[in-house]
This record gives sequence, structure tokens and C-alpha cells, in this order.
Amino acid sequence: MVVVVTAGLCIILLTLCTLSHTSEFDRTKVDGFINGFIGCRTNKNPGLAASAVKDGHVVFADGYNVSDTMTRRPVTNQTLFGIASMSKAFAAALMVKQLRDRKLSLHTKLSDLLPEGFQFSAREFTQYATIRDLMTHCLGVPPNQMIRLDKTLTRKKAARRIRYFRPVHKFRH
Ligand SMILES: *[C@@H]1O[C@H](CO)[C@@H](O)[C@H](O)[C@H]1NC(C)=O
Ligand SMILES: *[C@@H]1O[C@H](CO)[C@@H](O)[C@H](O)[C@H]1NC(C)=O
Repeated sequence: MVVVVTAGLCIILLTLCTLSHTSEFDRTKVDGFINGFIGCRTNKNPGLAASAVKDGHVVFADGYNVSDTMTRRPVTNQTLFGIASMSKAFAAALMVKQLRDRKLSLHTKLSDLLPEGFQFSAREFTQYATIRDLMTHCLGVPPNQMIRLDKTLTRKKAARRIRYFRPVHKFRH
């Protein structure tokens, strides 16, 4: 059974082994685990949502604590969270599908896949970067809010903006 816990900007995918050994879904165990998790480490997570999926069915979905420390609005199973780095898991799953369907390899160059004119700010990235470099986060693109939080961004514009980011490290360093 996979339990997905969504907390603020941090999203954790957990396979709870202790839970998956029991055939029945044990709500008390889940509550205990999650309440411990909320309190752990930083105490900066005001709340979270969790759901459990078994054999393709949602067997449980609930919210814990609050989504806003000012209003104390409770988290429910309808609360929306920023997807944040969860998008990486989706991107990786889609990439695996592409590798299979289009018979690509991890060593396929991005320049063979991306539209004509796509470039990174450093020539060697544009010329030699591969799918492996992309998926292992090795393209040197710095963290930036201009792409992440721009609601008007289209795929085309996002691709064009990459060239303006100076790599934070040298190619494959
Ligand atoms: C979502 O929350 C509502 C209200 O508490 C509850 O009735 C419903 O069963 C929950 N959904 C799931 C899939 O657990
Ligand atoms: C979360 O809610 C539970 C139950 O209401 C409470 O005992 C706990 O102190 C709360 N945790 C945090 C970190 O606010």
C-alpha cells in the first residue's frame, strides 16, 4: 500500500511497510504515524493531507491539523497544495514511458529531442547534455522563481528562458 503525504511544500511518498503487511487498513496506526510525523524535526509543518491507495482504490483520504497558522483553517481531503518537487516523480515516470515508446536511451542527446534553436546559456550543455543529465538534475540550472511562479508562462516561453540562466556549475562537475 502506498501512502502519500502532502505537507506544505514538502511532499513525501511513503510505503509504510508496517501498514502494508496488514490486509485491513488500520486507521489508528496511520493517525499515530502522521501525528508523529507532523510534530517531528522542525514543527514547521502546520498540517498535511494523506491518502492511501490499495489495488487502484483510494481507501483513505484525510487532512491533519491546519493549512494556515493564522486562520487555523483545517486541512481536509479537498485542500490543495503546491505540487513542488512532486512534479519530479511525474516527470520521471513520463520520461520512462518516452524512453520505452520512442526507443530513446539515457544517452540520447537533448539536442536531438528539443526544438531547433533551444539552448542553454553555455554551449557544452546545449551540445552534449543527455536525458541522463536532465533526469539527474545535472544541467546546472539555478533555482529560480521567475519560471516557477510565473502564471503566464507557456511551454514555449519556458524553453526560451532557459538560455538566460547561468549554469551554477560546469558541465558534469
Ligand atoms: C473525504 O472527507 C470526507 C469528509 O470528512 C469523507 O466523508 C470522505 O470519506 C473522505 N474521502 C475519502 C476517500 O476518504
Ligand atoms: C495536530 O493536531 C493534533 C490533534 O488535534 C494535536 O494533538 C497536535 O498537537 C497538532 N499538531 C501540531 C503540530 O499542531
